[in-house]
Amino acid sequence: MSEQEQSPTLPFPAERLPRHVAVIMDGNGRWAKRRGWRRVRGHEEGAESVRVVVRTCRRLGIPYLTLYAFSEENWARPQAEIAALMKLLERFLRRERDEMLERGIRLNAIGSIERLPASTLALLRQVMADTAAGEHMTLTLALSYGGRQEIARAARRLCQEVAAGALRPEEVDERAVAERLDTAGLPDPDLLIRTSGELRISNFLPWQLAYAEFYFTDTLWPDFREAELIQALASYAARERRFGKTSEQIAGEET
Ligand code: IPE
Ligand code: IPE
Ligand code: MG
Repeated sequence: MSEQEQSPTLPFPAERLPRHVAVIMDGNGRWAKRRGWRRVRGHEEGAESVRVVVRTCRRLGIPYLTLYAFSEENWARPQAEIAALMKLLERFLRRERDEMLERGIRLNAIGSIERLPASTLALLRQVMADTAAGEHMTLTLALSYGGRQEIARAARRLCQEVAAGALRPEEVDERAVAERLDTAGLPDPDLLIRTSGELRISNFLPWQLAYAEFYFTDTLWPDFREAELIQALASYAARERRFGKTSEQIAGEET
């Protein structure tokens, strides 16, 4: 086993790892600007962090990782930056395909992906199809993703089904909504990480994060590597999730 393959040592029991980690990868532009470089350099370096975080989660046995790569609102950025981001995404998909296959990683996407440029979308669909049998980890990329838009789409579907007589209004419950979101079939995230010091969720998974633990760090995404990830996981491991119950009840459940 090469050094790279070794499982990182954890400062807490592996049972306390989250099952689903979601990340708002923010701060690429500022990382580059601080060095007097173009913003795109930050996105390039950020892609390296993506590699590291995917590999580390895979090695730790975290079964679900969801990365906010491009928001529906990001379409308002300068055309040149959007084009560079799409090229980087294509490069990432080409470079990582074999490794995802090798490591049993299934690639998944959420968001209005039909808005992506045709070449990017075709490649994305290809890699998703190629890796569909991956059983060890589901890597979900949120691309052209907006949470409110996703909820509105699910509501529209429910209305269409009711109008068609396929569903009764009384059957519309939390589960019925969840099943019509892009994330249908994925468990809710246990841990949300946001880098770069911003304290907001920017339209990322508003439904699914209802009971997630939040971890905010000032570290900019290109600087977020294995040590920073382990620190976030350690913070999560030390928390008590009560889901509305009392601390005493939770202690009782654990013993
Ligand atoms: C995150 O970094 C990447 C995307 C949103 C695509 P930013 O590009 O938002 O970097 P900052 O926030 O301007 O530093
Ligand atoms: C959120 O970052 C979107 C992604 C990380 C892809 P932004 O940089 O777009 O968020 P705001 O606009 O500052 O909230
Ligand atoms: Mg940003």
